[in-house]
Amino acid sequence: MSDLVERVRDVLPEARRDLENLIRIESVWADPARRPEVHHSAQVVADLLSQAGFPDVRIVSEDGAPAVIARYAAPPGAPTVLLYAHHDVQPEGDHAQWASPPFEPTVRDGRLYGRGSADDKAGIATHLAAFRAHGSRPPVGVTVFVEGEEESGSPSLGRLLAAHRDLLAADVIVLADSNNWTTDIPALTVSLRGLVDCVVEVATLDHGLHSGLWGGVVPDALSVLVRLLASLHDDDGNVAVAGLHESTAAAVDYPPERVRAETGLLDGVSEIGSGSVAQRLWAKPAITVIGIDTTSIAASSNTLIPRARAKVSMRVPPGGDSAAHLDALRAHLETHAPWGAHVTVTPGEVGQPYAIDASGHVYDAARVAFRQAWGVDPVDVGIGGSIPFVAEFAAAFPHAKILVTGMEDPATQAHSVNESVHLGVLEKAAAAEALLLGMLAAPTV
Ligand code: BES
Ligand code: MN
Repeated sequence: MSDLVERVRDVLPEARRDLENLIRIESVWADPARRPEVHHSAQVVADLLSQAGFPDVRIVSEDGAPAVIARYAAPPGAPTVLLYAHHDVQPEGDHAQWASPPFEPTVRDGRLYGRGSADDKAGIATHLAAFRAHGSRPPVGVTVFVEGEEESGSPSLGRLLAAHRDLLAADVIVLADSNNWTTDIPALTVSLRGLVDCVVEVATLDHGLHSGLWGGVVPDALSVLVRLLASLHDDDGNVAVAGLHESTAAAVDYPPERVRAETGLLDGVSEIGSGSVAQRLWAKPAITVIGIDTTSIAASSNTLIPRARAKVSMRVPPGGDSAAHLDALRAHLETHAPWGAHVTVTPGEVGQPYAIDASGHVYDAARVAFRQAWGVDPVDVGIGGSIPFVAEFAAAFPHAKILVTGMEDPATQAHSVNESVHLGVLEKAAAAEALLLGMLAAPTV
């Protein structure tokens, strides 16, 4: 088995080169102007998988972004493992805030910087390295599935799973799109929150009014909207919407200094909510106002604003139903506006949470593989974020065991500026995956 770790070390420079080439592609599916880049990245991913020795590689789509499916058939009697990653990336944000250009792979202090370096092009590099480490002849069947619209909520994933069910069917599914506990301690993600959103519009007047003429007598819509949004939390910062679910998080210690360091919380600003950090992050709902449409300061005048809108997003704890949570949020918004203001709620996305039963032979094998590759046991963690397709995979393949792994670490800054992957993590994650493929060939699995 340790030979395999050696071979991962041998193939890593090639995987890193592949990763650097992928980072150069601006595969932002959410930006219509850059959708051709997403098609280009699908082609590059397909070529890499062919070169790595997958006999059957195809690009597929179902009225959405192109995904890549590569297959290596299981030797007789051996199980098949599906390895997932996504080749689309988040928009890069303000270039001026990047220390090096976002689509120019750059190494500093043992970390490779660039958009998608970790989330989730590192997943593609890891799968390539694990497969190549087995001389492209692993003892299990391997299907690689690289999606192209994860950062847009995977809208066509359900159709892809239905259309290519036979190609994608597997005994074990490894979804490489999550976090590690630190750069020295790996994690297995065993719970994920769901994600819902809606747009709330408040109207108080049928047209704008001179604020001197009518201010103080009739309400402006923006003041009403602000009060309505404020009602979503109590004074301690706990979510104040009735009827939401709460589960129980794994007991891990998350000291306040670590929260401050990882979030960049400013001096004097306190945390919000009650309960342990893990409980608040992984097991309780969270509500965030993520956008407002109203008169900008530049365009403002002394006018009572007649209508204003906000987009509200909510994380749903494992065990809760996201559609029911969105209904509860909607009911709250419809009943908490002051002064009889008119409120219209337009529901948006609904992504389900998921809790994994992290026991049995596959998890036993994974923990052994992680310990060998990293030198320490993996920690079971939840994530506060969402990977709605986990629930979709689980529903499509109810008999498959799902593992959520990843190449991120607390310093990765996924979705933000200066995203990076730690090169040591990349190597250990690839070694763990290669070892896992070897172990899953054993008949006990
Ligand atoms: N890789 C993340 C999920 C994640 C978040 C992993 C935090 C580890 C820690 C994933 O790409 C993501 O960002 N998901 C979105 C949801 C999706 C529907 C756009 C999210 O959580 O906002
Ligand atoms: Mn991701």
